[in-house]
Amino acid sequence: MDKIVLEGGIPLKGTVKVSGAKNAALPIVAACLLTGGDHRLTRVPHLKDIQTIKAIMSNMGVVFQEEEGVLHVNSDALREDEASYDLVKTMRASILLLGPLLSRLGSARISMPGGCAIGARPVNLHLKALAAMGVDMHLEGGYINAKVKRLKGTHIFFDIPTVTGTENVMMAAVKAEGQTILSNAAKEPEVQDLAEFLRGMGASIEGDGTDTIVVEGVESLRDAQHTIIPDRIETGTFMVAAVITRGDIIIDGCCPEHLSSVIEKLQSVGADVEPITGRIRVKGADSIESVDIKTMPFPGFPTDLQAQFMALMCIAKGSSIIKETVFENRFIHVSELKRMGADIEINGDQALVRGKDCLLAAPVMATDLRASASLILAGLVAKNGRTEVGRIYHLDRGYESLEEKFRGLGAHIWREKT
Ligand code: EPZ
Repeated sequence: MDKIVLEGGIPLKGTVKVSGAKNAALPIVAACLLTGGDHRLTRVPHLKDIQTIKAIMSNMGVVFQEEEGVLHVNSDALREDEASYDLVKTMRASILLLGPLLSRLGSARISMPGGCAIGARPVNLHLKALAAMGVDMHLEGGYINAKVKRLKGTHIFFDIPTVTGTENVMMAAVKAEGQTILSNAAKEPEVQDLAEFLRGMGASIEGDGTDTIVVEGVESLRDAQHTIIPDRIETGTFMVAAVITRGDIIIDGCCPEHLSSVIEKLQSVGADVEPITGRIRVKGADSIESVDIKTMPFPGFPTDLQAQFMALMCIAKGSSIIKETVFENRFIHVSELKRMGADIEINGDQALVRGKDCLLAAPVMATDLRASASLILAGLVAKNGRTEVGRIYHLDRGYESLEEKFRGLGAHIWREKT
């Protein structure tokens, strides 16, 4: 297992370019199952999770070929409807294969995703919606066995605005019989990016980005090309890095409009945040003010940036309350931050962070993807030595060459094999 080693205290300066969004690329790659032909995707990030979904789909007969930055996906030879446990257990987003497989083959056998470090993460809303569209499903041997003659459009009301639930149903609906209305749908930019790709394939989808999406089933789809949107969570991670190191960073190739809540919060912290078209410049201030946050579905403050923002609040002036409303166990990074001297008290879904003058270097352990980023941010400012972040495979699931990108901004950071 690799670890990342950092020597803190250097204000980061310079320009960094963000990669394509993991959480847009995953549903869009899955959507290539909907029809054969040569789908051409650009700005697909090179991440462990993308490798995983490619491995699962290759086992089904899908052919992937990457050349000159374009990922070609061809599912003409799709022969298998099963996503095996040994791969699904490493990435719950495999549930995104359910909708497209049912649309293309009328059957799917997907290992039921287990929980993960941040919560139980049930998929009941996905299954309830697909059942309402006529799918017969039963659980056997830990696998969801699903069959349907023809998906039927209907009105789906999501109890919770689930991101991958909205995406799964959208993909199931594009060739279903009649109209499907998704109410209380997720509004994330990644949902909109998937809708854009599906429209490129000939689907009829309106309302993506709002809480009501209307899909009119079409007879056939065609292969399409698409450029994945930039990763807003990677962008936000670099924004926090600029503020926590009191540096001055230009984040290039991003979508400032996807980060309004984060821009507002960092400006309240005292940073100078300047969104320009396709770029954001962030200059940290000497004094870091404490600010409360509450994670919410888009366009609220993203849960995927909660751990990173908490690292910043650990060295803020005063105290801040961080309320996590999306996942029930997304404070695992707290105990590792406390090893670095942070003063954090958890009370249910809230964490009270009392700002300290500094954090102290220490060996710590990543426990999930965004916790890894939080510990790296803490290591960038920790005093008295080197911070070592172990189990860094969590980071590689969702960040492309993060340590190289930070090194390009002047950080003393490298990867070591253990
Ligand atoms: C997506 O997960 C993202 N992953 C997550 O990013 C992100 O944190 C999350 O949305 C929230 O924005 C991908 O897009 C691949 P949800 P998802 O369904 O779709 C409950 C990262 O770090 N729920 O929107 O799984 C659920 O337990 C990852 O990149 C049900 O109860 O999240 C949670 O409390 C982490 N039943 C809430 O809804 C269901 O059937 C929101 O979950 C589905 C969800």
